[in-house]
Amino acid sequence: MSHVVFTIFGASGDLAKRKLYPSLFRLYQSGVLTEHFAVIGTARRPWTKAYFEGVVLDAIADLTTSKSEAQTFASHFYYQSHDVQDAAHYITLKTLQDELCAKYQTEHNKVFFLAMAPEFFGTIANHLKSENIVDGQGFERLIIEKPFGTDLATAKQLNHALAETFEESQIFRIDHYLGKEMIQNIFAVRFANVLFEHVWNREFIDNIQITFAESIGVEDRGGYYDQSGALKDMVQNHILQVLSILAMDKPASFSSADVLPEKIKVLENLRLPDETAVTSHFIRGQYQAGHINEYDYPAYIDEPSVKPNSKTDTFASGVFFVDTDRFQDVPFFFRTGKRLTEKGTRINIVFKADVNIFNQAIAQNILTIYIQPTEGFSLQVNGKEVGKNFAIEPVKLDFRHNADALGNSPEAYEKLMYDVLNGDATNFSHWHEVKASWTLIDKIVETWQADKVPLYYYPAGSMGPKESFDLLAQYKTSWIWQPDVWYRERGLLK
Ligand code: BG6
Repeated sequence: MSHVVFTIFGASGDLAKRKLYPSLFRLYQSGVLTEHFAVIGTARRPWTKAYFEGVVLDAIADLTTSKSEAQTFASHFYYQSHDVQDAAHYITLKTLQDELCAKYQTEHNKVFFLAMAPEFFGTIANHLKSENIVDGQGFERLIIEKPFGTDLATAKQLNHALAETFEESQIFRIDHYLGKEMIQNIFAVRFANVLFEHVWNREFIDNIQITFAESIGVEDRGGYYDQSGALKDMVQNHILQVLSILAMDKPASFSSADVLPEKIKVLENLRLPDETAVTSHFIRGQYQAGHINEYDYPAYIDEPSVKPNSKTDTFASGVFFVDTDRFQDVPFFFRTGKRLTEKGTRINIVFKADVNIFNQAIAQNILTIYIQPTEGFSLQVNGKEVGKNFAIEPVKLDFRHNADALGNSPEAYEKLMYDVLNGDATNFSHWHEVKASWTLIDKIVETWQADKVPLYYYPAGSMGPKESFDLLAQYKTSWIWQPDVWYRERGLLK
């Protein structure tokens, strides 16, 4: 049960409506938030409290049939029109915060959520301190959304600005993938199964494949995306976070104090590619017009708010190496992109072949972790085909979460909010992780920006440029998941 005042900067935005208000409501329904909480929403628009309550009610409409429950919840929401650069507004904010603290007996606990453009993070943090809104009483926690900088230099500046007001242990950098059920499940699969942990190393693992495929294009986010690209949008944060969980050593306990240092160790030991390695090991792609399953899709450069001569990567693929005893020289292949064949986030762990006594080909064992849209895991093992001949065939042990379990499963944001209220930083990005990730990504970007590597084009609906497949062939392997094949075989994709 938490006693707390939340202050949300960017309360009129999409993120707040789609993710935050529903998550807070679910925490209210489950009793984590009781009558001892209040939310201050701030944004530039001049909304009234009644209007703000209406926005909140809309956002949670699907989550309850009880009007009175929804209304009681929404009554805890207060609105203040706010210009983040105007010091006078923080004085009003402080007064409101104090009033609500007294009214709801929130014991001076405060959570600040910055759901807005990062260029204002520093200014807001400064004012929170100078206007004594962060006053050292109760717990005081800051939640921020990505992007955390656009390269190492800007990330450092941002961190420096926040550090004037908040200590690292008070800063919760959201990576919403870390709130996903199956990403958290990687910890369970790895560390609660004697079967896996002892073979989870370079002696037994041949390669690891991480695919974050999206079928959507850039939609209405062309303005942001064109400045960012797939590498910065998905790899610097989500993919490297997942890689760190896959590659880390077993922590002494499942607590942020033990987990974070192990993850940091992985990221700090990522091999930094020089220009030659970037050229041969990292692929940037951009989608062209394409046709799949009877639908026509436009090229990236024809999307709204995208520069017509844009060279932004809508696809990124490559191979990372982690220079630790556990994984030295084991390739971690990754690929992510927009307008790929299907939405699918999954990880394939491909084990090495054992000495073969059977005089016939034997498939490698593969553990697949399905993150989304289906959730679960499968293990490909070899067995004997029924019959008098001794023929070996691969069989799949398959586990998927059933629909009931999924229906009750909390949204990523709800889990993350819950962790913040408990002060648990395990599922958030630590500054040292962010710093190590940018150090690596900067290396790739330097070479890409200097145009020393071609931009490869791929038709919308495919699984990216051919070069991403060729990369794995260089390592005598191939992508395990190839959903495009199914469509090609049926003539639905060229
Ligand atoms: C975001 C990216 O971080 O993750 C988006 O900015 C991407 O471009 C999204 O679409 C994917 O998240 P999810 O949860 O839909 O897989």
